[in-house]
Amino acid sequence: MIRVEDLHMHFGGIRAVDGASIDIAEGSITGLIGPNGAGKTTLFNVIAGRYKPTSGKVLLDGEDITGLEPYELFAKGLLRTFQIAHEFSTLTVRDNLMMVPPEQPGETLLDVWLRASKVRAREAEIRRRADEVIDFLQLGHVAEERAGNLSGGQKKLLELGRTMMVDAKIVFLDEVGAGVNRTLLNTIADAILRLNKERGYTFCVIEHDMDFIASLCDPVIVMAEGHVLFEGTVDEVKTNEQVIEAYLGTGIKNRPARKQAEAGS
Ligand SMILES: Nc1ncnc2c1ncn2[C@@H]1O[C@H](COP(=O)(O)OP(=O)(O)OP(=O)(O)O)[C@@H](O)[C@H]1O
Ligand SMILES: [Mg+2]
Repeated sequence: MIRVEDLHMHFGGIRAVDGASIDIAEGSITGLIGPNGAGKTTLFNVIAGRYKPTSGKVLLDGEDITGLEPYELFAKGLLRTFQIAHEFSTLTVRDNLMMVPPEQPGETLLDVWLRASKVRAREAEIRRRADEVIDFLQLGHVAEERAGNLSGGQKKLLELGRTMMVDAKIVFLDEVGAGVNRTLLNTIADAILRLNKERGYTFCVIEHDMDFIASLCDPVIVMAEGHVLFEGTVDEVKTNEQVIEAYLGTGIKNRPARKQAEAGS
C-alpha cells in the first residue's frame, strides 16, 4: 500500500532520514522501531506531508504522493497521530472528535441559514460517530471533559479516536503507547487490532515498548541512523545481531573479546 523509495530528509548537515526504503503491505500492522534519533518520526513526517523530502519518493497504492499536503493525504485516507498529542485543549473530548470530518455543511453562515435541516442531520450523524468512537475507546466517563484535562494516556486514546472519525485506509501511529499504563496500553492495542480486522485499516506503528510491538506487529522494520537496518518478524528482530548492536550502541571496541577476535581486530 505504501512504498518509500530511497528517501532522504536532511536538515542542514543532519541526515535525519538517509536513504530509507520501506514497503507497508495492505492489511498489515507494520512495526517501526529503532533507537532514539533513528529517523522514525521524520520518516512519518515526510510520508504524512509535514516535510517535503530532500530526495526520494513516497507511493500510495502506486500513486506518487511525495510532497502532497497533509489535507490532501487525509482526503486519500492517509492519517497520522503525533508523538506529542495534538488535542484542542479547551474543547471537550466529544468536540475534539466532532471537528475531524472535513467540509461540514454548518461551517458557512449561508449554509446555516439556508440549509438548516441538512446541517442538523449531518451534525447528528457526526455526533453519532463520535459517540461510537467514545464507546469503542472506553472514554465515556470523560466525553464532556476538556481535552486539556485528560491524562497522558487518555490523550493518546483521543489521538487514535480522531483517526476513527473518517474512513482511514492507512494510519501512522507515533508512539501512541508512550507514557501509557499497561491497562490503557492493552485498550489501545485492542482498538488497533479491531480497527485492522473489522474496518480493514492498515497500520504503521512506531513504538519503543517491545511487548506492545510483539503483540501487534508483523513485520517489524528496524531503522538506525536514517535508514532501514533490518526487517523481519519480532523474533527475528530480537535475535538479530545488527539490531542488538544498534540498540546497545556498542562500537566494535566495546564488543566482547570473542566477537572482536572474529571481526579480526
Ligand atoms: N526539524 C528538524 N530540524 C533539525 N533536525 C531534526 C528535525 N527533526 C528531526 N531532526 C533530527 O533528526 C534526527 C532523527 O530524529 P527523529 O525525531 O526522526 O528520530 P526518532 O527515531 O523519531 O527518535 P525518538 O525515538 O527519540 O522519537 C535527530 O537527530 C533529530 O534531532
Ligand atoms: Mg520519534
